[in-house]
Amino acid sequence: MRSESEVPFSDNPFTISVAERVKRLPPYLFGKINKLKYEKRVAGVDVIDLGMGNPTDPPDPLIIEKMTEALADPKNHRYSVSNGIANLRKEVSARYMKKYGVQLDADTEVVTCIGSKEGFSHLCLALMGPGDTAIVPAPYFPIHVYAVALASGNVISLDCRDPQQFLTNIEYTCKHQYPKPKLVIVNFPHNPTTTVVEQSFYDDLVALAKKYGFLVISDFAYSDICFDGYQAPSFLASEGAKDVGVEFTTMSKGYSMAGWRVGFCTGNAEMVRALSTIKGYYDYGLFQPTQIAAIVALRHCDAAVEKVSAEYQVRRDALCDGLERIGWEMERPKGTMFVWAKIPEPWAEMGSIDLSMKLLDEGGVAVSPGRGFGEEGEGYLRLAIVENTQRLRQAVRQIDRCLNKTPMIPESE
Ligand SMILES: Cc1ncc(COP(=O)(O)O)c(C=O)c1O
Repeated sequence: MRSESEVPFSDNPFTISVAERVKRLPPYLFGKINKLKYEKRVAGVDVIDLGMGNPTDPPDPLIIEKMTEALADPKNHRYSVSNGIANLRKEVSARYMKKYGVQLDADTEVVTCIGSKEGFSHLCLALMGPGDTAIVPAPYFPIHVYAVALASGNVISLDCRDPQQFLTNIEYTCKHQYPKPKLVIVNFPHNPTTTVVEQSFYDDLVALAKKYGFLVISDFAYSDICFDGYQAPSFLASEGAKDVGVEFTTMSKGYSMAGWRVGFCTGNAEMVRALSTIKGYYDYGLFQPTQIAAIVALRHCDAAVEKVSAEYQVRRDALCDGLERIGWEMERPKGTMFVWAKIPEPWAEMGSIDLSMKLLDEGGVAVSPGRGFGEEGEGYLRLAIVENTQRLRQAVRQIDRCLNKTPMIPESE
């Protein structure tokens, strides 16, 4: 008899048995919703898609112009170098100095990745193995768990919504777990809960890392998208951070270059080298015109990034104002591209997955169920502010009509 993880092909007599590391992956809870979203679209429904932090706006024209110019140059079509061209790594180093006062050696402390998710996953593969344990923030961004599982490591997820308590629980785990955790993953501003921290959080984390001997990976995907004057601190700006860890940044969010797949791993030279080594076997680096355009983006597009962040703040307000009007509760995020909203009564009982299916099926609005981010996410929905304010207001009206017999927002609006 075939097991569930063996993949049957209808007219193929053979059984494809997948590796143990694939069998260990937790179920992918967004699958059902993605399938329904696809079916709705095929049926011609105009789904308002707040499901994914996938920017809908294009990058700054200067970036596209540079890409076009680089494409026309015949020498840019060969394999590139897997750790990224030197001038791009230098630009990343210059940006860290300018923005966070952090000195990085572009040759040994910076590596370019095919999006930060690729880099993060391969770094886990370089660091983790059977018997190793990683602490991940919960509710969790799925790849934080999957990458460790794929590397055959064990995961302990700790609630990160109260950062001080998160630190206390990290210390408690280090004291009582044998063998001690090898790796602690942090991600602030946090996806999905939007929790943020101050620099002192990282100072304390570095001190714990040194005391208990764990490594740190900071996933800093939302470094550029901060609101109300808040500036997200970099883990690397804490004294001694480079002794214990690295940080991932990305051009997917602030630069609206998600499809371009440009990310960076920076910090501890040994960890950067471990990632570069694995990448050296697996890939030939990013398409060179992309890297050249990324240099221009990092060098000249600070104002565009600020504009993008300001636009997300306007959208945050439009969505939060609307949801509050229909009786939902949430904290206004200080960063990220998401609103993390508590499911109001009586809908919480239904569970976030079924409610998300209902909102999509009957309301035409796609959101992410909190349960998709682990048990700790149940009771919440994550709404990505990737559509414009008009569409966000429309989404609230559709949610209102889908859930409330007597809608709270009048027909006339
Ligand atoms: C926390 C977090 N890390 C990493 C990523 C992936 O970024 P990239 O596009 O650089 O792979 C995302 C994207 O949604 C994210 O939310």
